[in-house]
Amino acid sequence: GDSPPPSDARWLGSPMSELKRMPQCGGPLPPLKDLPDQHTVLIRTDLLQAGKLPVPYPSKFRDTWDEVHVKMPFSESNLFPVGNQVISKLLFLLACAGAKQACLSLAKVLESDAMEHLFQSLLPDMVQLALRAPELCTKPIPLLKEGMNHSITMSQEQIASLLANAFFCTFPRRNSRKTEYSNYPDINLCRLFEGSYPKKIEKLKTLLCYFRSVTAQKPTGLVTFTRKCLDHPPSWKNSQTLLTKLHVTCEGTIEDSGHGMLQVDFANRFVGGGVTGSGLVQEEIRFLINPELIISRLFTEALEHNEVLIITGAEQYSTYTGYADSYLWNGKHQDKTPRDAWQRRCTEIVAMDALKFKNFLEQFQPENINRELNKAYCGFSRPGVRGQDLSAVATGNWGCGVFGGDARLKALLQMLAAAEAGRDVAYFTFGDRALMTDIHTMHSFLTERNISVGAVYDLLGQYYLSECQDCLTRRPKVNLYAFIYAGVSSCHLQRPGQAADTPY
Ligand code: AR6
Repeated sequence: GDSPPPSDARWLGSPMSELKRMPQCGGPLPPLKDLPDQHTVLIRTDLLQAGKLPVPYPSKFRDTWDEVHVKMPFSESNLFPVGNQVISKLLFLLACAGAKQACLSLAKVLESDAMEHLFQSLLPDMVQLALRAPELCTKPIPLLKEGMNHSITMSQEQIASLLANAFFCTFPRRNSRKTEYSNYPDINLCRLFEGSYPKKIEKLKTLLCYFRSVTAQKPTGLVTFTRKCLDHPPSWKNSQTLLTKLHVTCEGTIEDSGHGMLQVDFANRFVGGGVTGSGLVQEEIRFLINPELIISRLFTEALEHNEVLIITGAEQYSTYTGYADSYLWNGKHQDKTPRDAWQRRCTEIVAMDALKFKNFLEQFQPENINRELNKAYCGFSRPGVRGQDLSAVATGNWGCGVFGGDARLKALLQMLAAAEAGRDVAYFTFGDRALMTDIHTMHSFLTERNISVGAVYDLLGQYYLSECQDCLTRRPKVNLYAFIYAGVSSCHLQRPGQAADTPY
């Protein structure tokens, strides 16, 4: 067998240069087009041009107040229409009072000239941006409901105006979860302004950096939000597919080193998770540094087990250091990611929610294994796209932080799903060297022996039956990888003379 990897290795497996990235790998995009049942486009596609501000479509605000579209702050049907001069001023004063509380706490940490800028320039600019929503977002925005396969494409400028409304908490019916929107994430940012969680200041700084940037210079690109539902899961048991390439590293992050790849957001079923409240782990951080992601909360109903949300084109405006309690806003980021033919940044992010496990053994139950495999496959597969046009998946410990999953199992499941979807994998272990070695050893073991997706799936089932089902302790006696090494080595798949050649 192979000699063990050097103990100071920073990465293992295929070199990064062998993994595909956008825009180099992508095929040509079809022309951008509004298709009533599939794709809602909020701008004039015929006038779309690089570096030019997209033109809203239609030219006049079309007011809709129904169960299938976003209810807008400035709708005639809103009891407190923001369009009304007097009320809007009042509303904004009220909202600003909330925002002011937050800004006052900001005052303690901001330099005095930054404070002056905030009150004299930034907040008034944000109010103007919010008030322009009826002229910018003229087409009703469909709700992306459970079971729908539908995309929404809008301009970064439209998103900025909607986010300014979210900042001032003007979206109607969205301030209490008890209403018709109970199955939607919070969009109004009011919760960010209350309470004493000290990291909220850092979250606010990150968001204000975004608003400073988009009010100083209007962004000219588009962003697409796609809700995707998996109707026909693969037959995992019968899959003859072999594993794809793996690059695994203990250094770097999905967002930095995974540029141009399909980047996984370790999501909540309410996309964005606690971004408007006190959450501050992988998903919330991503939504803060790429705030255009936050607008998905306006129209994306909670994800079902077989659904994901794909966001293409969100720009990064801030950098950060630390994580969770040590998170700090680290200044402005200039996003140089190239744009595609639809004027979207070539940044594709997939929000996929793992299951949350309280008990370690639960995750090995076949129905939970199937659920996670299908969720990841839904996120990774692109029916109708040629294999050669697919970028690698940039992922890591999906579901293994707050959600309590086992990283070795999740890495394996994601490798199976990526293989079935025909994509290579860049796996970021977030500093965990032992995990890097283990995942690489498992991947090499399986690929050297041509073990198929179906065969690994079968071993997962056997592991549950023999080690987990009747286990009375918190963790099984034999760990999953040891079981797989032993299982493969003892069965007919093994080539002669390799009986002792397991990593254990
Ligand atoms: N790049 C690569 N790996 C990372 C990064 C990064 N930028 N950040 C964190 N990790 P977690 P979950 C690793 O807990 O368990 C949110 O509230 C790091 O090892 O965010 O799926 C959502 O809204 C970390 O421990 O994901 C959900 O409610 C691990 O990824 C919930 O958390 C898991 O990160 C999802 O929890």
